[in-house]
Amino acid sequence: MRSLSLLALLFIIQEAVAFKAHDFKTCSQAGFCRRGRALSSRAKEAKSSWKSPYTLDASSINIALDQSTFTAGVKSSLYPEIKFGLELRIHDDGVVRVRMDEVGGLRKRYDEAASWALIAEPTNSRDIKWTTGKKDIRAAYGSKKDIEVVVAFEPLRISLSRNGKEQIVLNGEGLLHMEHFRNKATPTEEAAPKEGEITEGEAQVVMKADNPRAWFEGDNEDDWWEETFSSWTDSKPKGPESLSLDINFPNHGTVYGIPQHATRLALPSTTGDSPTFTDPYRLYNADVFEYIASSPVSLYGSIPLMHAHSVDSTVAIFDAVASETWIDVSHSSEKSTETHWISESGILDVFLLPGPTPEDVFRQYAKLTGSAVLPAQWSLGYHQCRWNYISSDDVRTVQKRFDEEDMPVDVFWLDIEYSADHKYFIWNDKTFPDPVDMVNDVAAIGRKMVVIVDPHLKRTSDYPVYKEASELGVLVKTKDGEGEYEGWCWSGSSSWIDFFNPQAWDWWKRIFKPYTVEGGTNAVHIWNDMNEPSVFNGPEITMPKDNVHYGGWEHRDVHNINGMLYSNLTSQAVSARSDPPMRPFVLTRAFYAGSQRFGAMWTGDNLGTWEHMAVGVKMVLANSIAGMSFAGSDVGGFFGNPETEMLVRWYQVGAFAPFFRAHAHIDTKRREPFLLDQPYKGVIRDILRLRYSLLPVWYTAFRETSVTGLPVLRPHYVVFPKDKNGFDIDDQYFIGSSGLLVKPVTEKGQTEASVYLPEDEAFRLWQVYYDYFTHHAYRGAAKGKTITVPAALDQIPLFVRGGSIVPTRERPRRASTLMKNDPFTLRVALSKAGTARGELYLDDGESYSHQQGQFIWREFISSRDLAAEKPNDAVDGVALKSFNPSNDYAKSIANVRVEKIVLVGLSSKPSSVKVEGGEELVWEYTPGVSASEKKEGTPSLLTIKDPRVLVTKDWAIVVQ
Ligand code: GLC
Repeated sequence: MRSLSLLALLFIIQEAVAFKAHDFKTCSQAGFCRRGRALSSRAKEAKSSWKSPYTLDASSINIALDQSTFTAGVKSSLYPEIKFGLELRIHDDGVVRVRMDEVGGLRKRYDEAASWALIAEPTNSRDIKWTTGKKDIRAAYGSKKDIEVVVAFEPLRISLSRNGKEQIVLNGEGLLHMEHFRNKATPTEEAAPKEGEITEGEAQVVMKADNPRAWFEGDNEDDWWEETFSSWTDSKPKGPESLSLDINFPNHGTVYGIPQHATRLALPSTTGDSPTFTDPYRLYNADVFEYIASSPVSLYGSIPLMHAHSVDSTVAIFDAVASETWIDVSHSSEKSTETHWISESGILDVFLLPGPTPEDVFRQYAKLTGSAVLPAQWSLGYHQCRWNYISSDDVRTVQKRFDEEDMPVDVFWLDIEYSADHKYFIWNDKTFPDPVDMVNDVAAIGRKMVVIVDPHLKRTSDYPVYKEASELGVLVKTKDGEGEYEGWCWSGSSSWIDFFNPQAWDWWKRIFKPYTVEGGTNAVHIWNDMNEPSVFNGPEITMPKDNVHYGGWEHRDVHNINGMLYSNLTSQAVSARSDPPMRPFVLTRAFYAGSQRFGAMWTGDNLGTWEHMAVGVKMVLANSIAGMSFAGSDVGGFFGNPETEMLVRWYQVGAFAPFFRAHAHIDTKRREPFLLDQPYKGVIRDILRLRYSLLPVWYTAFRETSVTGLPVLRPHYVVFPKDKNGFDIDDQYFIGSSGLLVKPVTEKGQTEASVYLPEDEAFRLWQVYYDYFTHHAYRGAAKGKTITVPAALDQIPLFVRGGSIVPTRERPRRASTLMKNDPFTLRVALSKAGTARGELYLDDGESYSHQQGQFIWREFISSRDLAAEKPNDAVDGVALKSFNPSNDYAKSIANVRVEKIVLVGLSSKPSSVKVEGGEELVWEYTPGVSASEKKEGTPSLLTIKDPRVLVTKDWAIVVQ
């Protein structure tokens, strides 16, 4: 029995190894993408004679009573008999929503993508007045009426401007094309193709060359009704229904976003001469085996959000589409970006986010799709995973070894082999005979376990999960809409739950309550993998597009949302299993806009190479700016056996990613950090400890993200939007508002690193940056400056920007839960002006009691004149630093104190350091070594030992 299952496993791995890039389509192999790109090249060739056939019928304009919205009919001159309806709404925060659909068509386009992505129906503005002219309809709004939306009638062209400068233009190049539904023509004598023009068996109709539609749609029915790829035939029962739209940013030279792709943060052009970026960026959630570290191919998740940035402003567009989408990016000049979006199906539903600052864009996007969930605090600790810890004793041994080596860790993970025959929820009772005891052993000091639950259900009658799903009728159906779809995944012959079916929801929650372990324990959280979904024997390793979901929608219509529904329902299930509910941790591989509300993501099966380590940093940044702040890459690389140097560097990368997990393929050698020789073992232990000491910073940053939508990891353009030098930088970044700037080393053999110290040119205020470890002061420059810093294997280029106060907890502990009552250290990095600020947010880290005010939120201010200081204003209606000091949580940490304050950069030795109204404290002063304020060097250090002040109480320390 044992050897049989081993054989089955080998067979599956063998199959996995066969996946290659040619398993995935290029644009030219996808009919609708080919058609969309052909449209674009014809338009380019025709230059000024190209004109969009779509016009708005001015006589049909209907403005809503509250003025926020208008609807109008749209026609294509090429198909006068087909009707389209356009709707424009302006939300109360200035976001413009543009919707267009075919009206009274033969069939219906999928129009529910936004309803899955949005948190609520947005509120419309009350500040709008549309003015209808002869050529256009327009409205100016905003507090200074500086934003203007203009919808030109003929051809249809929609633009958003600020101060007279166009920010976003839709259909400016005339590439809008909503393929209307049609009946399949029977080939007639006249229309029959000439010999050699069609492939055998295809009922294509060749259009006459003089057909005026041909210049627009092409001169043949290019894969309208059926499409083959490799051995797969997609039946396309609805015929052509793709949507092409050009979206241009005439005054923005850089675009970011549309994750997930393994590429730079500032998106390279796909229409230039790069040999790598010849295809458009593809958004089609896919399990790509051994993906390339620089490529526009689609990976596991898709967020159709793009930021466009310039020194003047940041804007964004969110295209609420769930079907496969390709996006070309080009730059006709250094200052402008042209993009072309081609989707296979769905209505046009595009949101224009007017910015004008990065903060505004994040707020506007979070208002639409929600902000990242505030995770359980333990989930920001270190996660130890591998495929697989093979038995409960294996888990215990690994935990013991971490403890013996004093290496902090919060979570142990189990991959698919914990389950009996990959029937998730059911433990393999030979290798895991005592799951409750095992989990309790791990949970004894507050640690957790995460186990994998994949979406494929083994089709055997002895698997209750499959059986129940089948009886309930909640499995995805084959193209006839009747049969259960059957495909191949880790569990062999499998079926998939259709989470679009509401009947699946309560049932799914029920089976998690409590998760499987008899006797129940809530210390087990969930990993949702393979939810693109990955189907080993399916087209492009996923489901056939003509599979049928709830409501009769084809898989093609909902593909990119599918994985999000799975992690959504799982997170609800995990949270609901306890009373009162506790914060769930759910890791997902597939994701869509809005997935940030349900948990963390990781970048999938990376390779143990330096290139993958480096691109992982960029991918995490790209995901972060698209809402998915809780992101990370497999530390060590999933495939391969990293050399020691690489592994150490990878831990440094991981320790500065929001989600910090080591993971490895089943074929790799064990590489838990305690297995390393010295000094490497010690170096990694220090990295782990550094992560734990900075947990207050991470948690505070997550809290801010959950309130404001600003990402936890902030690339340069977000923090210094006017500093051009930073627009392309994606290998260093800031952590929340902490003032910490990190540049993880991702190249072999480095002993130094160059780091860019950004500045806001407009403010002409260069700042000092202190090395986090040595306090060495580096001076910036008004226009930014690149410095070279030591970066030996045990050194991480980490800096505190002058003006920041960083709260840390420096006592080494085995797990984050043991730090609850630990004292704080405050690193006060004085700015040039001798001031600094910082924040600390704390709550119980696990429950939802913070939503009832059970938290503390402190602001630390270091000022030359404290009396003049005011705490920061409220952000978005939430008084950030206000909390009720007598709430139960605050009381529970009433004795938590500040044990040390390090003041970096005082200009002279003080004569006295006292708690206001109290006695002289114990302190030590080391003078700085740099001669002048402008030179780099060693700054002065004032160390205040045990000032005996509490984090929950107000206090002031006076340094004179
Ligand atoms: C997929 C996941 C990987 C996991 C493996 C087995 O390849 O991406 O992380 O270990 O499946 O479950």
